[in-house]
Parts: sequence; C-alpha cells; structure tokens
Amino acid sequence: MATRAIRLFGDPVLRTPAAEVTTFDKELRVLVKDLLDTMLDAPGVGLAAPQIGVGLRVFTYDVDDQIGHLVNPVLHFPSDEDQDGEEGCLSVPGLSWDCKRKQHVVAHGQNVYGDPVSIEGSALMARCIQHEADHLDGILFVDRLDAETKRAALEAIREAEWANEPPPVVKASPHPLFGRAR
Ligand code: NI
Repeated sequence: MATRAIRLFGDPVLRTPAAEVTTFDKELRVLVKDLLDTMLDAPGVGLAAPQIGVGLRVFTYDVDDQIGHLVNPVLHFPSDEDQDGEEGCLSVPGLSWDCKRKQHVVAHGQNVYGDPVSIEGSALMARCIQHEADHLDGILFVDRLDAETKRAALEAIREAEWANEPPPVVKASPHPLFGRAR
C-alpha cells in the first residue's frame, strides 16, 4: 500500500487545471492505486490526482460502498434539481460547510485501461463526482459557497492549525506534467 502526502489548501497544484490523460500505461495504474490507497487511508469519499500533486484528470471515489475511479471525466446534469448539504475536502482538513450542488449527475470517462465507462449518481455520489471533477479544473468547494459562508470559510482556513505548516517535502517527478505547478 502506498499512500501519498495530501496537498493542502494554498498549494498551487490545487489551483492548476489538470491535463487530459492520453497514455494508459503502468504509471497511470500506479497513480490510480495510490489515489485509492491514500483515499481509503485518510479516509475520504473521494480524491483527485492534483490533491497528491499529480496534474492529470483522474479521481477516485468511495461512496455507499461503491469504490472506483474515473479518468478524463465529462459531466452531464440530467435535471436542474439542486441539493444542499455539508461538504468537506481532504485538502481542507477538519472543516466543512453547506454547499449547493446538482442532485443528479452522469459522468462519462474512461477506466485505467482506456475503456469508456460512465458513472451515474445522485445525492452524495453526485456531490462527490462534482467535487472531484472540480479539482481537475483547479476549483475548490470553497469557491462554490455562498458569499457569506465563503468569507467565514476563508477565515476559518486562515486560522486552521494546518494552514501554517510547511508543505510536505516531495520528490520531483520525472513526468513533465507533474511538475507544472511547482
Ligand atoms: Ni476535495
């Protein structure tokens, strides 16, 4: 089992749009395995590659005993129905706020072997998919909060114990995409 350091709010890699995966090789399989291990160890309901410092469009999820991954996700919203509920993020540890999301989502993408796959979800699964897909665009759930909640959230983040810790020491990756934000 290989867990990797989870990048925290303030790390530029979380604000860098991730690149499309074009090579479905062993390196990608290792990435998905590391994402799963790190997510399950945390534990969290989802984890996106940028959160472990990798700028590729991949995320994993663990919602209602459904564990999986998706590469190059493209989201569709079959209805306008919204949901309100508490949301958190492993990159913003220990904090959560109410965040509005769509209630239903369909995500098309690929699996680790490059085969086309789709995930359909409602409620928490839909929330997770939207949250993780946002990570791949450099968007954090804090950006999705209403103005008043966002102000409170940013203040709580500034005051969080982890906010002033030095970033984890990570080895430079040989993959050219990986180092873009560093
Ligand atoms: Ni997150």
